[in-house]
Amino acid sequence: MTQDMWSKEHQSVEACLTEAVNHCRPFAQEGKPASYIPALANANASDLGICLMGCDGRIVHAGQWEKPFTMQSVSKVISFMLACVCQGISRVMEMVDVEPTGDAFNSIIRLESSQPGKPFNPMINAGAISISSMLPGRRPEDKVESLLQFYESLTGKRPRINEEVFSSEWETANRNRAIAHYLKDTGYLQTEVEEALEVYLKQCSIEVNTADLARIGIILSRDGYDPIQRKALFSKQIAKISKALMLTCGMYNASGKMAAFIGIPAKSGVSGGILATVPPRVGKNASFPFSDGCGIGIFAPAIDQAGNSVAGIKLLEWVANEWDLSVF
Ligand code: DON
Repeated sequence: MTQDMWSKEHQSVEACLTEAVNHCRPFAQEGKPASYIPALANANASDLGICLMGCDGRIVHAGQWEKPFTMQSVSKVISFMLACVCQGISRVMEMVDVEPTGDAFNSIIRLESSQPGKPFNPMINAGAISISSMLPGRRPEDKVESLLQFYESLTGKRPRINEEVFSSEWETANRNRAIAHYLKDTGYLQTEVEEALEVYLKQCSIEVNTADLARIGIILSRDGYDPIQRKALFSKQIAKISKALMLTCGMYNASGKMAAFIGIPAKSGVSGGILATVPPRVGKNASFPFSDGCGIGIFAPAIDQAGNSVAGIKLLEWVANEWDLSVF
């Protein structure tokens, strides 16, 4: 595509996105920012931002796309990928399954009701805490450092940890502590409880913006190959498992609805972030400039009962319908 063609398409897509943001913003009133993590409660509920990145690194964006927010559960995909890269898929599969639960993200119920207590998948808190304990490095700070380096390789910049969010969650993480103790008891934790918890809560406190998520999304779309740096960052098999997990478990007990009505692998977090990845073969719509695939990052802090961004999901649905992006 010539520069001229791109800038025309770019302008029209950006105009469409701005219109969609304005249309979806009021849906935030149906949710509210997460309050069980005190530092997230004061987020501006009417923020809504989106960024799409194609495989040549070009972006289109609208709304509060540059505003930083913490990864929260979106981090579970990245940590899962790093654990697979470093320990191998089969070792990771010994510690955590890949089955959806249909339960809340922080539910404890299945850990004991289904033996031997192996977490159902790495997208719920139990599975993610187990994965945090498997990250490379001996001490919690080494594991966090490996993770920050992995983010740097994915996004091209070293992210910061939001210490206020980390402390706020560390002090109130009674349920996650209970989960970690249970995992320790059943042999699904590779470190001590407090160590795994520190790594997990620090990974949740890593700050990004929608462009960072869009960049991770395009790498997933290209099966682990970073088209911008032109190198493979993880294997095709890891990418496929991660995308399958995003589609089946990424939005918790709303994952089925997401698959049915939006049809794009996506992962949410309670700070209102959504990471989505669109494969090359879809979106052949003439007005869509990313027919070779794209990554999508969305941010809107008001969340619903399931912990998913209300306006963010509406916006993703709008984008999926407008450009026919469902993988089905
Ligand atoms: O562990 C927690 O509860 C949070 N740090 C992350 C939960 C989360 O983002 C669930 N997502 N929708």
